[in-house]
Amino acid sequence: MPQLSLKEIIERIDEAKSRFASSLERINDLEQLRELESDVLSKKGTLALLNRQLGSLDLESRQAAGAVINQARAEMRSDFERVESGLLVNARAAELESEKLDISEMVEDWTFQAGRIHLITATRHELEDIFVGMGFTVEEGPEVETEWHNFEALNIPPYHPARAGQDSFYLKFGAPESMLLRTHTSPVQIRVMMRQKPPIYAVVPGRVYRRDTADARHTPAFHQIEGLVVDKGISFANLAGTIEEFTKAIFGPNIVARLRPGYFPFTEPSAEFEVTCSICGGTGCRTCSGTGWIELGGCGMVDPNVFMAVGLDPEEWSGFAFGFGIDRLAQMRYSISDMRVLLDNDVRFLRQF
Ligand code: DAH
Repeated sequence: MPQLSLKEIIERIDEAKSRFASSLERINDLEQLRELESDVLSKKGTLALLNRQLGSLDLESRQAAGAVINQARAEMRSDFERVESGLLVNARAAELESEKLDISEMVEDWTFQAGRIHLITATRHELEDIFVGMGFTVEEGPEVETEWHNFEALNIPPYHPARAGQDSFYLKFGAPESMLLRTHTSPVQIRVMMRQKPPIYAVVPGRVYRRDTADARHTPAFHQIEGLVVDKGISFANLAGTIEEFTKAIFGPNIVARLRPGYFPFTEPSAEFEVTCSICGGTGCRTCSGTGWIELGGCGMVDPNVFMAVGLDPEEWSGFAFGFGIDRLAQMRYSISDMRVLLDNDVRFLRQF
């Protein structure tokens, strides 16, 4: 830098001041601010360079210029610090915002919400209560069954379509197709008759499995409640009366139930048990495939072959049996158009019941 006069130095200082002021105005982050600080205010910055020029001036001019530089440095420093503290406040606010955790949802879920019994379990409990009130006992059986209990003893011969691999989940255990996940609760009829002597008045709730594709009315794992009565002189009228009692107790007056002639290998005669579709009120919809009715299960008089399979004399004993879908029943009772929501575990749905 060439030698400068006092006047020139003072002009340069003024220039530096106004350039600094306009740069400060444009700055919007701390990094740019640090750069400006180093360009102008540091030991190698503009002011320090001008200060070095003072050595060539006489004493009086040097003192005057020194005072101007010091004054300018103080003013620029204070402007600098004002901008810096504003940017620091903003940066801290942005940092806090980015690290913010929303813990309100946890507080809601963990502190204020009690769990509740699932609709299917609640319905099962209610069914148990109704039947216990009518004099039945509640029995259980295994979900992994033998082919004999699930089919053979129930008079379902090997060529029966219900046995087809596409309907049942067979297990790789023992001889091929000898063990499976039970496809209905009916095998527990066999177990109950083999472990206790009649008279028998039993219901058996539980989970069953079928290779069904899930849709509005089906899921591959669902629940049934089986009923079995074995005594002397039991007739179809006893069966119809029991079904009627149970229907009134669970559905109330708004849903109509009907029995239609049907076929099941383990009962003779057999009937299908249907209720008005509560989604459409019987006019026909997607859930009931347009029929206005939903099949809940079947029933009938215990087939003599079943009695013989468990060593009971069909001349001495008679009885009836029934089996209903608990999930379907809950679905109709609460007008749930698609059964799959029962398995979604969405608490917003489950909380309603
Ligand atoms: N087990 C049959 C099913 O899963 C339902 C059934 C029909 C059960 C007639 C019975 C009965 O006890 O008597 O579809």
